[in-house]
Parts: sequence; C-alpha cells; structure tokens
Amino acid sequence: MPSSSIADPRLARAGRDRIEWADAQMPVLRSIRDRFESEKPMTGVGIAACLHVTAETANLLRALAAAGARVALCAANPLSTQDDVAASLRAHYGVEVRAAHGESAVTAAEHLAALVASEPQITLDDGADLVGAVHDGAAGAAEKLLGALEETTTGLLRLRAMHASGRLRCPVVAVNEAQAERIFSDRYGTGQSTLDGILRAANVLLAGQTFVVLGYGWTGQGIALRARGAGASVIVCEVDPLRALEARMEGFEVMPALKAAERGDVFVTVSGNRDVLRGEHFRRMKDGAVLANAGHFDVEINLSELAALAVGGSRAVRPLVEQFDLGDRRLNLLTQGRVVNLAAAEGHPAAVMDVSFAIQALTCEHVVAHAGTLPRGVHSVPDDINRATAMLKLAALGVEIDELSEAQKRYQRGWAPG
Ligand code: ADE
Repeated sequence: MPSSSIADPRLARAGRDRIEWADAQMPVLRSIRDRFESEKPMTGVGIAACLHVTAETANLLRALAAAGARVALCAANPLSTQDDVAASLRAHYGVEVRAAHGESAVTAAEHLAALVASEPQITLDDGADLVGAVHDGAAGAAEKLLGALEETTTGLLRLRAMHASGRLRCPVVAVNEAQAERIFSDRYGTGQSTLDGILRAANVLLAGQTFVVLGYGWTGQGIALRARGAGASVIVCEVDPLRALEARMEGFEVMPALKAAERGDVFVTVSGNRDVLRGEHFRRMKDGAVLANAGHFDVEINLSELAALAVGGSRAVRPLVEQFDLGDRRLNLLTQGRVVNLAAAEGHPAAVMDVSFAIQALTCEHVVAHAGTLPRGVHSVPDDINRATAMLKLAALGVEIDELSEAQKRYQRGWAPG
C-alpha cells in the first residue's frame, strides 16, 4: 500500500464510481491508456503531480500508471480536493496521494515537500508550486528533472520569469498553451464551470443581470459567451486594445473597470493579474454585488482592501459566500476569491479534461522519449501532439473531416501563382 495522507479511506468506493463516471466521458485519454498499457513507455519513471485532486485528474494518473510510471499526487488547491477520489486513487490505483479537502496551508506545504523528497523525474503542475519547490529544494534536484509540465497561465508567468533571471534548471512544457487546450479547456471548460460555480455558490438568476468579465483572454471569452447565453447583459473590461476590440465586435459592452463597477451585479476576474478589483471599485459597487475570481491565485480581487472597507466586518452567509458589510452596502465574495470554478463547482467537465489530460499524457511520453535532450527553457507542446489529440477527439465524437490531396499539398508548398 503506498504511503498516503488523505481524509478518509472509507470513501474509496464512492471515489471509484466518480472516477469511472468521468472515465466514460474521456474516450481520448482511455485510448491512450490502452496503448500505454501494452507499450509501457514510461516504465519506472517517477512522476509527481500537484494538480486539482478530481476524478478527471485521477484518470490522467491512471493512464500514467498504466504506462509503467510511479505516480504521486498532492493538491493544487485544498478547496478543490475530492476526498473520495483521493481515497480511491490510493486504494484502487496504487497512487501515492497526499491531499485532504480544506487542508491547512501548513499541511499542504508538508504534502508538497513529501513529493519533492521523492525526487521526481517529471512534475505536473497547476500553478508551478511543485516545480518551484523542486528548485528551492536539494541541490541538483531540478537538474534531474526530465521535464516539468505546467497547466496554468499564472504558473507559466512564474516559470518564464525564472528562466529570464537564469534560475530555471529544467525544460518546461507549456501544456496550457497548446492550441487544442486553449479552444477546449479555456473557452468551453472554464466558461461553463465558472458559471456553474457562481450558480452553485450564490444561486443567483443570471437572466436580466449585468455580468462583468474582467479579462478577455480565452477564458474570459468563454465566460462572457456563456453568461450572455444565460440571458445576462455582459460588460467586458480589458486592457489589451486588440482583445477589447474583439469583445466589442462580439457585441459586448466594453468599458473601464471603474465604470463597470457601478453597473455590475456579478463580477468575475479572469486576468491572471493582481488588484483588478480594489478599493476604488468596491466603493462604487451596488449593494448585493457578487464577486468571484476564476483565476488561480487570490490576488485578482484585493482582499485586504475589501476587508479594510468592511466597517461592519464580514461573515459567512452561505457555504462558500462571505459577505462584507461596507456600512451602506454589502458585497458577497465567493470561494475566498480564487478558482470559483473548482472550489464551488467541479472544474471543467470530464469531456473537456479529456483533451487537456490527453495532451499531458502524450507530452509526458514525449519528455521521456527525449530524455536529456530538451534544453532548459519553456517549450511549446509539439504540433503533432496537438493534432493527434484533436483527431482522436473528433473520432470519439464521430466526426470525419476531409484530407488534402497530394496536388493540394503541392499547391500549398509552391510559390508559383495560380
Ligand atoms: N482544472 C480545471 N478543471 C479541472 C478538473 N476537472 N480536474 C482537474 N483540473 C482541473
């Protein structure tokens, strides 16, 4: 039995049902698992993951274990951990799990340290905590990494900054930036699950409400589209002129956050940056406004400025909703100002994670196949992995597409006009 630190081993049965339910919606990952099972391309490779402990993650780890890897897992965020999944991973799938829902920051750090001590050869991250800790740990440990996969924009910002300052000592693969991931995961996954999280936490009616999206990257686009689909009037706040123009062309109102602050009923930050909503915005908001952050870290909504303005203090008014009393108005903060889609809902549905985690599984295989040859720095996911994943997903959806003829391929390569 692998060593573990989980909430309750008796939840394993329920966890297995949940993992199998997700598996049924992950045909691409399943086909990769079947191939890994027979080819064993990662025999004996130590893989440590600091990811959200969900049924979908469990299916990624099953695929890696089927490939022959030794797999360990801790939590990217204590609020997203599904304790039944953790129990099942340990009991049924031989994964070393160290994660319990709601664990303290101290416990989470101990769990992370235990994974670092296992000297992994590959790390999988959702926020760069694990690869960062490997760099801060024993001398030489980071150099031993064959590769580090990163799943978030926020994490990639940290890793690129490390590389720019000469501190990065291993190859990193930006799985989050793979085209297949962008389209599927950011736009449709976060789009749907963020709304799901807001509805589960606050149970507000979106139709007829003014819904403000701060940040119009891929995820912001998904959230704005889904909010409009639910009947809300959507305002977009964006600092990049091209993206702002795109939002306007899409039919959304575009304005600075200070103006939007007066209009919004629901605010969602999804910018990856800090202080996007702060004191000057809180002071203009309407009584009862709902504030959520779909980003990874709790920096997008300035929580200390919110607390400082709350002359009447704050209290939990529903599970996952903290109400701040500003004297003349009350503002409602969801899920402590972070990852509302995972903390109040279940993150991306399995059909979405099917694509993300297929890319991760194939990228792990790629890293092992190129062991020692990838230079330090941040790499893109190879295009053949993107295309193979998209083809497998299309096949799973029963969609066929045309192929270019040889004459068409020659025409594309040629320079002669006509
Ligand atoms: N990130 C977003 N959704 C997720 C999910 N369902 N499982 C793991 N990581 C996620």
